[in-house]
Amino acid sequence: MAENTPVDPTSTDAWKQLGGIADGFSPDLRGWFDADAGRADRYTFQAADLTVDLSKGLITEEILGHLVRLAQDVDVAGRYQAMIAGEHINATEDRAVLHTALRRPKGAAGLVPPAGFIVDGQDVDADVHATLDKVYAFADKVRSGEWTGVTGKPISTVVNIGIGGSDLGPVMVYEALKPYVKPGLEVRFVSNIDPTDVYEKTAGLDPETTLFIVASKTFGTLETLTNARLAREWLWAELASAGVLDDTDAARTDAVAKHFVAVSTALDKVKAFGIDPENAFGFWDWVGGRYSVDSAIGTSVVIAIGPDNWREFLAGFHAIDEHTRTTPLEQNVPVLMGLLNVWYTNFLNAQSHAVLPYAQYLHRFPAYLQQLTMESNGKSVRWDGSPVTTDTGEVFWGEPGTNGQHAFYQLIHQGTRLVPADFIAVANPAHPLKDETGDGAGVEPGQDVHTLFMANYFAQTKALAFGKTADEVRADGVAESIVPARVFSGNRPTTSILAPALTPSVVGQLIALYEHIVFVEGTIWGIDSFDQWGVELGKQLALQVTPAVQGDSAALEAQDSSTKALIAKYLELRK
Ligand code: F6P
Repeated sequence: MAENTPVDPTSTDAWKQLGGIADGFSPDLRGWFDADAGRADRYTFQAADLTVDLSKGLITEEILGHLVRLAQDVDVAGRYQAMIAGEHINATEDRAVLHTALRRPKGAAGLVPPAGFIVDGQDVDADVHATLDKVYAFADKVRSGEWTGVTGKPISTVVNIGIGGSDLGPVMVYEALKPYVKPGLEVRFVSNIDPTDVYEKTAGLDPETTLFIVASKTFGTLETLTNARLAREWLWAELASAGVLDDTDAARTDAVAKHFVAVSTALDKVKAFGIDPENAFGFWDWVGGRYSVDSAIGTSVVIAIGPDNWREFLAGFHAIDEHTRTTPLEQNVPVLMGLLNVWYTNFLNAQSHAVLPYAQYLHRFPAYLQQLTMESNGKSVRWDGSPVTTDTGEVFWGEPGTNGQHAFYQLIHQGTRLVPADFIAVANPAHPLKDETGDGAGVEPGQDVHTLFMANYFAQTKALAFGKTADEVRADGVAESIVPARVFSGNRPTTSILAPALTPSVVGQLIALYEHIVFVEGTIWGIDSFDQWGVELGKQLALQVTPAVQGDSAALEAQDSSTKALIAKYLELRK
C-alpha cells in the first residue's frame, strides 16, 4: 500500500512562493524572448520522438524552479516508481495501477521492475504477453481470412461494441492510424445506448462477413450489453433473411461463436452471454478503463493494423514510460507539462485546457483525452478521503486545427479567459498532396498543402504569445475607433508538440505522455486518479427512473417534481 496521507501541496514553501509570484503576475512573453536569446532552446525538450516546446508558456526560471520543488515535495518520482512496481496506489479500490506493464517489451534486459515481477500473486509480464500473443494470433487469423463467418466467408468488417475506455481509445487510435489499416478491412464503433448508434453502424453491413467485438472491462455496462444484444439480434435476423441461418438454437449458437468475440476481465459473464471463453481476451483489474487502449481492449485495432504495427505502438508507450522514469524532473516532459497545468489551473485561474491537433487523423484525440483527464482528475477528495486543498481537474476540449481556427480560436485569442493550449503536429503528412493550380495570390501552383497547414500551426502560437499592440494595429492604417477591437494582448500560453510523422509509435507516445501528465497533476493534488466513483450515481438513478419512464405511475409519483414533470411531458410526446 502506498503512503496513505498525501502531502498537502498548499502547505509547501514552493506553493507559497508560486502564490506570491501569481499575485499581480504580469507575463511578458515579448520581453522575455527579447531579453533571452536562449529561451526557446532552454525550454524545448525531447521525449522519444516528441519535440516539446514550452517556451511560449507563462514560465520563468524562478517559476519552473518552484514547480520542480513542488514535484519533489509531493514525491512525484517516488509515486511513479510505486505505480510501476504494482503498489496499490488506487487507494479507494485497493488496486495496483499497472497500465505501464501492458507495454513492457517481452523479456527485455534492464526492465524496471525486472521481468517476471509478481504483483498480488500474479506474474504480470507473463500474463500480459500470453494475452498479447493470443490477440495477435486471433488478429492474424482474421486478417488472413482463416477466421470465417458461418458461411465460410472471411471477415471484412469488425464492429467494436464498448463505451468509455472500451470505445474512446480504440476509435481514436483506429482513426489516427487509418493509413496502416489493411485494405478491405473496416472497423466501426458502437458506443451509445441511443438505438440510433447500432442502427447506423450496422446499416449496409453483410452479416456473413461481420465480426462483433464486445469490449467491456466489467461486462456489466448497461449500454454495451444492450448494444451487444441488439447486435446479436441483428445478426440472427440478417442471416435468417439471407437464408443462411436455420431456425434452431444450435444454428444461432454457432452464429454467435463465429461472429462474436469479447474482451473483458469478467470471463464468466462473457460465457453467460453466449460467447465462447476461448474467443475472449482478458485483462486485469489493475488496468483502468481509460488506461486500457493498449490492452486487449485494442483488439479491433490490432486486427485493423496488424500485430507488427501494434508492437510498434506499444514500443512508443514504453519509450515515454522510460523517459518518465529515468529523466530528471527538470527535463522530464510529462512532469513539466503536468506542473505547468498546475501553475495555470491553481495560480493563474485557467478553467479549461485546449488540445489542438494539427493532424486530421488525430481528430478524436481531444475526445479521448476528455475521459483520460476528466474521469481521472475530476475529484473533490484526496486518496485518504479528506477534502482536496485546492482546485483539481481541468476541462479538456479541442478540435483539429485549422477547423478550430474558424470556430472557437477567437475566444482563445481575445476572450477574457486564460485557455492554455497544446498544439500537436507532425512534420510528414500521410498524404503529401499538392495544390497544382494555386490561387494566383500567394499560393503557387504545385504548393505542398501540408506546408500551408503547418504555417497555420506556427502562426497561431506566435499570435497567441506575442499578440499585436495598438501601435501595430494603427500602423496598418486602422481607424482609431476600431483599434481596441483589433488589439491582441498576447501572453496566451501554448505548448507546441512536434513529431516526425503519425506512426504507431508516435501515437503510443502521445497517449503515454498525457497519461503521465494526468498522473503528475493527480499526485500534486493528492487525489486518486484511478477511480471514477462520480459516474456511479447517474447509473443507479437511470435504473431507478426506468420504471417511471416505462409508464409506471407509482414510480412516476416517487420522482422529484422537475423529473416527474419532464417524464410526464416525454410520455405525452411519445407516440
Ligand atoms: O462509467 C465509466 C466507466 O466505468 C469507465 O471508466 C469505463 O471506461 C466505462 O465505464 C466502460 O466500462 P466497461 O469497460 O466496464 O464496460
